[in-house]
This record gives sequence, structure tokens and C-alpha cells, in this order.
Amino acid sequence: MTLSTHAPGDFATETIRPIWWNADAGPGGVLEMIDQTRLPGEFITIQCRTIQSVWDAIKRLSVRGAPAIGVAAAYGVVTALDESAPADGDWAECVTKSADFLATSRPTAVNLFWALDRMRRVAAGLGSIPFADARAALLAEAHAVRDEDAAMCRAIGEHGQHLIEEGAGVLTHCNAGALATAEYGTALALMYSAHARKRRFSVFVDETRPLLQGARLTAWELHRAGIAAQLICDNMAASIMKAGRIQLVVTGADRIAANGDAANKIGTYGVAVLAAAHNIPFYIAAPSSTFDMSLPNGDGIPIENREPDEVRGFGASKTAPADMPCLNPAFDVTPARLIKGIVTEKGIISPVTTDEIAARIG
Ligand code: MRU
Repeated sequence: MTLSTHAPGDFATETIRPIWWNADAGPGGVLEMIDQTRLPGEFITIQCRTIQSVWDAIKRLSVRGAPAIGVAAAYGVVTALDESAPADGDWAECVTKSADFLATSRPTAVNLFWALDRMRRVAAGLGSIPFADARAALLAEAHAVRDEDAAMCRAIGEHGQHLIEEGAGVLTHCNAGALATAEYGTALALMYSAHARKRRFSVFVDETRPLLQGARLTAWELHRAGIAAQLICDNMAASIMKAGRIQLVVTGADRIAANGDAANKIGTYGVAVLAAAHNIPFYIAAPSSTFDMSLPNGDGIPIENREPDEVRGFGASKTAPADMPCLNPAFDVTPARLIKGIVTEKGIISPVTTDEIAARIG
């Protein structure tokens, strides 16, 4: 893995794309990404030339957010091919092994498995062709995963922007913005699209403990885009809702079961309960690649448990005794009954029922 640094302002006027294939680097190009663990203080890009470095980047959240993880995994398979340069007869085994390995990086976001399945399916359809041709086909598929996600996010923004009314207060949790996708985001796509239409609204950004994706990433994105936003601690949402300052809640999702139960960053369920208590509509924004139609409901969604040190402090700063026992589930599941609608690239699914989802997502 190699690093390069940029001043944060270097990218101020460009569309944020957190992950890309740099065709100009190395003999056949190389996977590059923004190291999101360093934002907002430093804008650092990473090159991944080994499958282990791709796995590590996903695991430690250099690349994070369900759709972006899927893009990373797809390119990661090509990285594995480049790293091991298999003989003509051996590339298919390399695809299988690398996909199996990348699938162990994080368990909850289904986009990871969806993207790896796409790579496996393309490989299986190629038959016995030379390595160079197989690599070209797999790189094209990884590009398609990226480009299709970008298009889905744009469509989500278009379909959902009207939910943000003039003068509204909108609360979001974690980061479901450009940084979490190929570009443009899911929950934040609604905001970008409403902002592009010159609508005025104000966003309340949950800081999102323990890893502060709201404070570090969503705040950075919205600030950079010139969208009015205020950062709040997670425990402030209830009283701000009670004060009548929030008219809409919208978050992303990591995996949505066939009945609409939706896993997202820990704390999302609490926000949905609060929204219901205050009669505020709670929406999820997610592409069809985030639906797991094999699960009838959210009970089967695997929830990632992360290191207790993430709860005992942040970075080098310790806020609890070093040996304090902690829980650290990274996600929770919001039941479908609390979700007013799911904004997808195919339109808004509402009411959120098994039948409506089957009709729209298939
Ligand atoms: O642990 P993270 O940062 O990967 O969690 C991300 C989220 O929970 C996002 O809300 C979700 O992936 C949707 S991203 C469009």
C-alpha cells in the first residue's frame, strides 16, 4: 500500500469519488481510494496493489459504506489477479480464492457479497480463455459495478429529493454520502439533489459514535457542498425532534431483508423509534444492490461486532478505563414498520411490505 497526500482543498470543487481504478499507474492500472479514516483532517489517497491491502482497507474502514465496499471488492478481485499473475489455466481459481477471501472482510453490507457474486458469475461465463482476456473482462465488470452504482445514486437523489420540503429540518445518521458509494451517495443524494434545485433546508448530522462517520464524513461532505448543516451529538436528536425542528429523517442501509427490515449503522434503530414517537417520517435510501431477498426478515442479518477499543475512546484519546468491558455492534436493524418508505433507483417503495418490495426489486 502506498500513500499520497493532498491538501483537503485540492478536491473542493470536484465530485467526490472515494474509490477508482487509476489506469495510468503501473502496467495495467491500480486500485486507489481516499483513506476515509484520515478525514476530515487529511485528504490522503491509498494505492492497493495486493489483495491483503484491499481486505485491510475494507476492514479498517479506509473504504466504507455498503455500495463503496462492493466497488472495492470488485476491483479487489482484479488486484488479486494482477498480484499473482496466474498462468492461463489458473486465473479462475485465483478469482474464486480472492472472492472468498474478500468476503471475510466485513459481514453486514450485502453489497460486498453482491459485487463478488457478479465477479464470480462473469468468471464462470468466460470458459477457458487466456489470462489477459479474462482480466480485461473482469476489470470491465468492476468498472460496471462502479458506474452502475453511480447511476443508481443519481436516480435515488432524483426520486427522493421532493421529500425534502422548503425550510425543512432533515436528520441523518452515519454517512450515506458520496464517500459511502461510487459517487453522490444515497441518503445524501436526496440532499444534493434538493440543494441543486435551490431548495433551502437544514440538516442535523448525528455524530455517530463510536467511529464518528457523521462528524468526520457527513459533516465534511455537506460543509463542502455548501448545504446548511449542524452537527449534533447522538443523544441530542430526541429533544430537537420534540422542539419541532426535524420534519424528515433519512439514512442509508447496509442490508435490507425481503420484508423491509433494514440494517444500518448502530443507532439508526433508536433514531427510527424517536422519529415514530414524534410523528416524523423515517426513510431509508438505498440501491437495489442493498436488498437481500434471501432473508425473509431482518433476524438473519449478520451484525458485525468490532473491537471494544473503538468504544473506549477515539483514536489515541481514551475516554474509559483501558480494560472496561464494552459492547461494539457496528449495526442495528430497524423494523420495516418504522420505515415510511425506501428510496431506490427504481422509485420510492411505500408502504414497506414484502409485496411492495417484491414488486419493485423482484
Ligand atoms: O461502518 P460503515 O461506516 O461502513 O457504515 C456505513 C453505514 O452504516 C451507511 O449508512 C450504509 O453503509 C449506507 S451507505 C450508502
